[in-house]
Amino acid sequence: MRIVILGPPGSGKGTRARIIGDMYSVPVITTGDMLREVTTQGTRLGIVAKDYMDRGELVPDDIVNHIVAERLRKPDLEKGFILDGYPRSVAQADALDKILEEAGLKLDHVMVVDIKDETIISRLSLRRSCPKCGEIYHLESKPPKRNKTCDKCGFKLIQRSDDKEDVVRHRLVVYREKTQPLIDRYQKRGLIRVVDGDRPMDAIPAELRRLLG
Ligand code: AP5
Repeated sequence: MRIVILGPPGSGKGTRARIIGDMYSVPVITTGDMLREVTTQGTRLGIVAKDYMDRGELVPDDIVNHIVAERLRKPDLEKGFILDGYPRSVAQADALDKILEEAGLKLDHVMVVDIKDETIISRLSLRRSCPKCGEIYHLESKPPKRNKTCDKCGFKLIQRSDDKEDVVRHRLVVYREKTQPLIDRYQKRGLIRVVDGDRPMDAIPAELRRLLG
């Protein structure tokens, strides 16, 4: 199963990607997590990426395309993959098409999470993430069992620096301008599956099973 998940920041892409990954035992490739990992390494690339991310801008296409192309060459993807947060621009969608074509592969679905901006703003203010394993929490709808630490790996949870309201609002503008146009491209190929981002957390697995079979 090869799936792309598109949607505005904070719409629940990562949450869904992880549920699908567990359900179908396929790796989840989250470009945001990969880039955040790069920013911790103190390299020039990491400093450049952090600057874009802290401002809520997309990291330049050539950097992201390179990172994703390397990841898609790894041997653990025979059963498929879930791309969470990639592609986000026409240049990235072109790069993905090329990688898949060269490998003789096709996407099965492009999932789009539909949700109101105001829900996003309030959700992201209460999001906490694990910087080690990437697990995602929400202080009300999915609180960690032990205060402030990850249920899965015990690491201290953080609030992402790009979850400040002004940066989130800018990420929304960038999404509409650069990423939303990709929906049309995949619609023409019959790949789009729209899901309701407002559904309660515990209804998500059943919705995904219905949609993906
Ligand atoms: P990235 O990390 O990908 O951020 P994003 O796309 O802005 O999305 P988020 O991770 O913020 O949210 P999400 O949709 O995954 O929602 P989540 O499941 O966490 O990217 C960050 C930055 O990296 C970008 O701004 C850019 O700079 C750079 N970048 C990344 N990819 C790039 C690319 N391809 N090209 C260039 N630059 C790139 O859910 C949000 C919250 O809501 C959580 O707390 C969750 O628990 C909660 N929640 C989810 N669903 C529900 C529900 N149904 N009910 C109640 N709460 C819910």
